[in-house]
Amino acid sequence: MKKMKIGIAGAGFISSHHFECMRRVYGVDFEIVGIFDIIREKSLEFAKKRGIKAFDTFEQMLSEVDIVDICTPPFAHAGNIIDAAKAGKHIMCEKPLLGYSPPKEEWEHFNGSKASKEAMLKSIVSELKKIHKAAEENGVLFAYFENFVYTPHVQKEAQIIKKTKAQLLRMMGEEAHKGNHAGYSSYWKYACGGSLISTGSHPMGGIFYLKRVEGETTTGKPIRPVSVTARTHTLTKLKGYRDEGFLRSDYHDVEDYGFAHVVFEDGTVGDIFAGATVLGGINDYIDVYANNHTSRLTINPTTLIETYNPGTREFDGIDINYGISTNDGWLKISPDENWMYGYLAEMQDALESFAAKRQPKSCLQLAIDTTAAIYAAYLSAEKAGQEVSIERIGG
Ligand SMILES: NC(=O)c1ccc[n+]([C@@H]2O[C@H](COP(=O)([O-])OP(=O)(O)OC[C@H]3O[C@@H](n4cnc5c(N)ncnc54)[C@H](O)[C@@H]3O)[C@@H](O)[C@H]2O)c1
Repeated sequence: MKKMKIGIAGAGFISSHHFECMRRVYGVDFEIVGIFDIIREKSLEFAKKRGIKAFDTFEQMLSEVDIVDICTPPFAHAGNIIDAAKAGKHIMCEKPLLGYSPPKEEWEHFNGSKASKEAMLKSIVSELKKIHKAAEENGVLFAYFENFVYTPHVQKEAQIIKKTKAQLLRMMGEEAHKGNHAGYSSYWKYACGGSLISTGSHPMGGIFYLKRVEGETTTGKPIRPVSVTARTHTLTKLKGYRDEGFLRSDYHDVEDYGFAHVVFEDGTVGDIFAGATVLGGINDYIDVYANNHTSRLTINPTTLIETYNPGTREFDGIDINYGISTNDGWLKISPDENWMYGYLAEMQDALESFAAKRQPKSCLQLAIDTTAAIYAAYLSAEKAGQEVSIERIGG
């Protein structure tokens, strides 16, 4: 079998994790050819450090690879995906699949929190249909990098569901932290929304995946979401908010808290919480309440390692876990973030799947359902929590 060639788009935070994880993939013949970032210096720095090529344009990179790894901010995903699919390249894409950003001429005065969510949902549904069509027509495989799906916790739960033929009655999940590291995330035009899309897409993706597993086990067909009720708030922008400097609070036009109540086609439910106002490191979990078992999937923080640091500066530079503000005192350390958060397993599955010409566990349909649900949730939040249908695209 021919060696697969990979090009990475975007040379930021997550690209470093991807590169490290690619290095740990086994049993698949591939080569990381190079990287393209719109900021030339970032491409050059990333490439030089890792001994790969820095491409001048995305198109140049496309022409030299078989697989594109999309690690750019959400507003840039859709264009990259369509171009890659039309060129017949397999795609790995970071969450969220895509999001709403207005045409660039409107960027200067755009305010996402005030813009019509009905119009956004319409535009998103049309983009999702285009991507679905482009991938189908060009026979392209798609790995949706929703790492929750690949955490050891969610994969063990999937095994329990398959073995016991469980019926999942309700689930709830959360991702929250003290505010995103990426500067762009304060602006809707770059991030395509706030907490609901940025952190909420993770537990939503994990919960949707488990319902898919349940359906595929019992009837051979995934169980998909049909409607959502949601609210969003920007708590750090409240007039009375007292800023102690611990939480990020420079949001321009995005929310820092949101929740969504999703109803699936079998009438069961999932509740998703997303926020950027939680101290203590990243707060990631899914609770599963089934007809034959209960599972608490505690992704972070865990007590796998509890370390007391009396304040020695030697701890500087040790990864404790994402979003922790101090490394003094009692610490709940993530033993291997790439493994615990599923980054490693998602890379292994994507490359194995591409080599075997099959769809990965976290597939395009999961990505489409999650994105359609998030923008239906934004519309619901605009209507102060009125239920909104989630359009079914594909399948
Ligand atoms: N799965 C996770 O846990 C996780 C964590 C962080 C980020 N992410 C996702 O990864 C993606 C990137 O986030 P990040 O935190 O790495 O952001 P980042 O800001 O650290 O890096 C993004 C890079 O993309 C570059 N870029 C912007 N537009 C581009 C374009 N059109 N073409 C090429 N390069 C472009 C920027 O210059 C920057 O270097 C986002 O979709 C985000 O949601 C996922």
